[in-house]
Amino acid sequence: MNRNGITLVVGGTGKTGRRVVERLERLGLPLRVGSPSGQPAFNWEDRKTWSSVLDGVALAYITYYPDLCVPGAVETVRSFFACAVNAGVKRLVFLSGRGEADAERAEQALQASGADWTILRCSFFSQNFSENFILDPILAGEVALPVAPVGEPFVDVEDIADVAVAALTQPGHSGQLYELTGPQALTFADAIAEIARVTERDIRYASISPAEYRAALLRAQVPEDVIELMLYLFGTLLDGRNTSVTDGFRRALGRAPRDFSEYVRHAAASGVWGG
Ligand SMILES: NC(=O)c1ccc[n+]([C@@H]2O[C@H](COP(=O)([O-])OP(=O)(O)OC[C@H]3O[C@@H](n4cnc5c(N)ncnc54)[C@H](OP(=O)(O)O)[C@@H]3O)[C@@H](O)[C@H]2O)c1
Repeated sequence: MNRNGITLVVGGTGKTGRRVVERLERLGLPLRVGSPSGQPAFNWEDRKTWSSVLDGVALAYITYYPDLCVPGAVETVRSFFACAVNAGVKRLVFLSGRGEADAERAEQALQASGADWTILRCSFFSQNFSENFILDPILAGEVALPVAPVGEPFVDVEDIADVAVAALTQPGHSGQLYELTGPQALTFADAIAEIARVTERDIRYASISPAEYRAALLRAQVPEDVIELMLYLFGTLLDGRNTSVTDGFRRALGRAPRDFSEYVRHAAASGVWGG
């Protein structure tokens, strides 16, 4: 366990990052959040902010925002890995995405960085239904997405945080690429039906065309670059390539991941979906 330096959590207010921060706080480890709202502020787009956030850091959990597939992201994370190694960071644990060519290029940059590395290559987060862009449609009672009826093994970010903290603080995870999925593939229609059942709400689900989705996002005044990102994610990653489930949590933690129903019960109990 790290007693000789700060643990940096890049994206430490985000979906996985804040859960990693909570766990590290419970372990009593000195830590720093790397984000625009952190102290010091960190911004992927402003390299002048990088050296102060890396000062005194021994271990780092790194999540890129908004997504590794946006133009320039791979080059940016490659430069950040080099800065981290130059600053004396010994171990880098990196959040990556499944089935994404740019994410794999970013992983290769990490593997070539000279640091001790661990890669968490994750499927679509369950928490996108409660903490991200699918929350508002659920609250409105109508979810319409441009995705075919293919299965996706939604992964609970609580489990990802458990692996990240194990990789930061325990031996045996260096040089490991963990492909992390939930235990069962569900379609988006299945997922919405489960949320509707548990919350006892009427929530309709529709599969729509990319053009219809674009038009809906434009009506909601979503910025064009975000629309492009969403269309890429739904059109490319959710085409069935990521349907298989993996043994990544067993390899990393020796246990099975939480299933989607458990996530739904937990999120519903928080009141996030009303009902
Ligand atoms: N969502 C998924 O299903 C999924 C699946 C697999 C992999 N991933 C990968 O996970 C990563 C994070 O995605 P996410 O959706 O879960 O986001 P997230 O971690 O919830 O993102 C929010 C975090 O990013 C920080 N942030 C925002 N703008 C920033 C900037 N310009 N510079 C530095 N930090 C910034 C925020 O800080 P403030 O609070 O200070 O604004 C916050 O800590 C992406 O690389 C994505 O490819 C996501």
